[in-house]
Amino acid sequence: MAFKSLRNFVKALEREGELVRIQEKLSPILEITEVIDRVSKMPGGGKAILFENLDGYEIPILANTYGSYKRMKMALGYDNLEDIGWKLYRILRPEVPKTFLEKLKRLPELKKMNDAIPKTVGKAPVQEVVNRDGDILSLPIPQCWPLDGGRYITFGQVITQDPESGIRNVGLYRIQVLSPKELALHWQIHKHGNHHYWKAKSLGKKLEVAIALGGESPLPYVGSAPLPPEVDEYLFAGIVMERPVELVKGITIDLEYPANAEIVIEGYVDPSEELVDEGPFGDHTGYYTPVDKYPKMHVTAIVHRKNPIYLHTIVGIPPQEDKYLGWATERIFLPLIKFNLPEVVDYHLPAEGCFHNFCFVSIDKRFPGHAYKVAYALLGMGLMSLEKTIVVFDSWIDVHDIEQVLWAWGNNVDPARDVLITKGAIDVLDHATNEMGFGGKMIVDATTKWKEEGYTREWPQVIEMSKEVKEKIDALWNKLGI
Ligand SMILES: Cc1cc2nc3c(=O)[nH]c(=O)nc-3n(C[C@H](O)[C@H](O)[C@H](O)COP(=O)(O)O)c2cc1C
Repeated sequence: MAFKSLRNFVKALEREGELVRIQEKLSPILEITEVIDRVSKMPGGGKAILFENLDGYEIPILANTYGSYKRMKMALGYDNLEDIGWKLYRILRPEVPKTFLEKLKRLPELKKMNDAIPKTVGKAPVQEVVNRDGDILSLPIPQCWPLDGGRYITFGQVITQDPESGIRNVGLYRIQVLSPKELALHWQIHKHGNHHYWKAKSLGKKLEVAIALGGESPLPYVGSAPLPPEVDEYLFAGIVMERPVELVKGITIDLEYPANAEIVIEGYVDPSEELVDEGPFGDHTGYYTPVDKYPKMHVTAIVHRKNPIYLHTIVGIPPQEDKYLGWATERIFLPLIKFNLPEVVDYHLPAEGCFHNFCFVSIDKRFPGHAYKVAYALLGMGLMSLEKTIVVFDSWIDVHDIEQVLWAWGNNVDPARDVLITKGAIDVLDHATNEMGFGGKMIVDATTKWKEEGYTREWPQVIEMSKEVKEKIDALWNKLGI
């Protein structure tokens, strides 16, 4: 079961021995980063950390909260995250009930869907304290790395509405503090918050924005989930939790945001204003991303609980907490990839490849050129289109096992024949391309090659021991003293 609020999640983490409280006085400027970085690089991702004694601030900072497989599963309330994807799969491909009895059996499922719809409440914990004249610097917003352009909110749910359709988007984008009442919103060109901004600009409208920290335990994650533009992230969270996300209407804006959040910053972007300098920022590539132009947000109010917890994450040289957020996305979206491409057995986006540098995918190969068909399809699918290298393997290769991946990639690929260099949209954070956001891509066919694919020799057999010998040794194994 997911938790109703971040503070309930923290209590559960403490009960499970998954939280460390730090009472030593530390500064949110650089010092806590050094602690978080060391902890998140411990085997298994280390523990969640609550910094309770911050130099200059009463409000504690919570970090590395989602930074392990166990905590990510606890936050979403599932032992197997693929189950979330299968749930979505069933919504996309409902089995049509044929008999009255079958129809009756479907009723609980329909109810679950209904229960997933966000619910608006009148009174919200997050509005216990309302500060219309709020100064953002009253919050313990950290500066992560020495050359960062300033302080950054790094784990905020950035909520906007499509100015035409009214459909909500929630994106996890970093936000730079420019002044006590001004922020810069780093929604990259491929992201939906950015689409809302450009739509508002073309319509000559202001765009209201809310930035929420905390709420029901899946919420900080759902902003990072690459959902299609028509899907409301809070509906998705409701499907995950099988109960609605509670929302409340803003005090100074017409947007709704999570009622159980810890802190919300309300405001707007005026697209008639000039874009501002944003960055540099030490990013999840392990490099600083340079200064670029992004919209300025004006803060109209800050609301929070009486004793709020400030939720924070850092990115930097992997692995960091985002390894586990990315892993959740990888697992949840596997069934949806299979919905479009049933031949896909599994895929893996390694955190060391910053999720967008490598995609290893295994397929059930059935026809010549099948590897290319899958690679092209993936490159046309949402944010998978930003992948730089796609390597396609036979079904029996475990794409999560780097030893198997390198073994099969090295042995099965003739670079002159099996590597296709092409071009396309590239992640904005990639610094290797000549142009930001556009550059080369590599498709590698590491499957067994067929005659129809131009292979002229006899493909060799993989070494395997006979079944009889295996069984004999299995039976003797415990006696061998090994
Ligand atoms: C810790 C973390 C920080 C992120 N920061 C940014 C960011 O600053 N800008 C951005 O465009 N995407 C960022 N992302 C990726 C987006 O959250 C992700 O692409 C998400 O799907 C965007 O939602 P959207 O498709 O609704 O725009 C970040 C992801 C994580 C896990």
